[in-house]
Amino acid sequence: MECNYLNYHGLPLPRIAHSEDSLKYFENFQVNDDDVFAITYPKSGTTWMQEILPLILNGGDFTPVQTIPNWDRVPWLEETRAALVMDTIAPPRVMVSHMPYNLMPPSFYSSKAKVIYVARNPKDVMVSSFYFHQMASFLDDPGTFEEFIDKFLEGKVLFGKWTNHVRSWRNTDLGDRILYVTYEEMVEDLKGVVRRFADFLGQKMSEETLEQVVSHCTFNTMKTNAMSNYSLVPQEVLDKTKSAFLRKGISGDWKNHFNPEHEKKFTAVIKEEMKGSNTQFPWD
Ligand code: PPS
Repeated sequence: MECNYLNYHGLPLPRIAHSEDSLKYFENFQVNDDDVFAITYPKSGTTWMQEILPLILNGGDFTPVQTIPNWDRVPWLEETRAALVMDTIAPPRVMVSHMPYNLMPPSFYSSKAKVIYVARNPKDVMVSSFYFHQMASFLDDPGTFEEFIDKFLEGKVLFGKWTNHVRSWRNTDLGDRILYVTYEEMVEDLKGVVRRFADFLGQKMSEETLEQVVSHCTFNTMKTNAMSNYSLVPQEVLDKTKSAFLRKGISGDWKNHFNPEHEKKFTAVIKEEMKGSNTQFPWD
């Protein structure tokens, strides 16, 4: 794991997008009260949030989602691009992060910045991550599906264990600064979820704009948006012959990959590690 990843408080972070400097920038970042964060464990809906949130916050102006790549439009605060593009983002700034709650920059906790936390069924996260590891030359080879299950459960993947991430963000003192949503809810009722986001962020949206935003943010439309489908990333970095980045965009693809033994083992570990978290997910 050494070579492709930086070790940040025990979390493996891909060197291609993280550096000592980017993490210093992250730690010293001054969070503003009107900043908005979408927080995710990798492969839980980050790219989707990078599409939806600017449209809600700018009143349905489609220019940014059609002209700026997602990583510069809504940067990851911990990644190297953040310092380069943060000044180009008009307030209210929107950014994403894969960091656990306890590692957020000190100014985040005392701010009034709002957070939307997106969780996804860890079995589907793992399947999505398996294909991502196959296509990404900057990540360790995932090995077989069976081997990758163990790596995932042991947290030997980018940003460590799913359970630690989810638990950290479920146990915050953020009160009404945080909104929880699942990827599954987004798949099931995108319009309802976008409306909830707009309400949470205090943004009025006409029915017409809401419809346009929802239609722009469907899987099939996003798949054709070069600013969001990672087609701009060179083939030697993301090998699109191995998988598409926007791969299936469904809930429950794990059923096409897990055999009963995988399922039993995976569920037992996640259940044990989520004990006492007071968290009930739709997939539990
Ligand atoms: S990353 O690498 O952490 O930024 O990946 P992330 O964007 O969090 O997750 C990628 C998965 O999200 C799916 N996705 C979508 N699903 C449904 N609708 C829309 N619009 C959408 N946009 C992205 C994407 O397809 C990946 O899931 P899988 O299961 O691999 O298809």
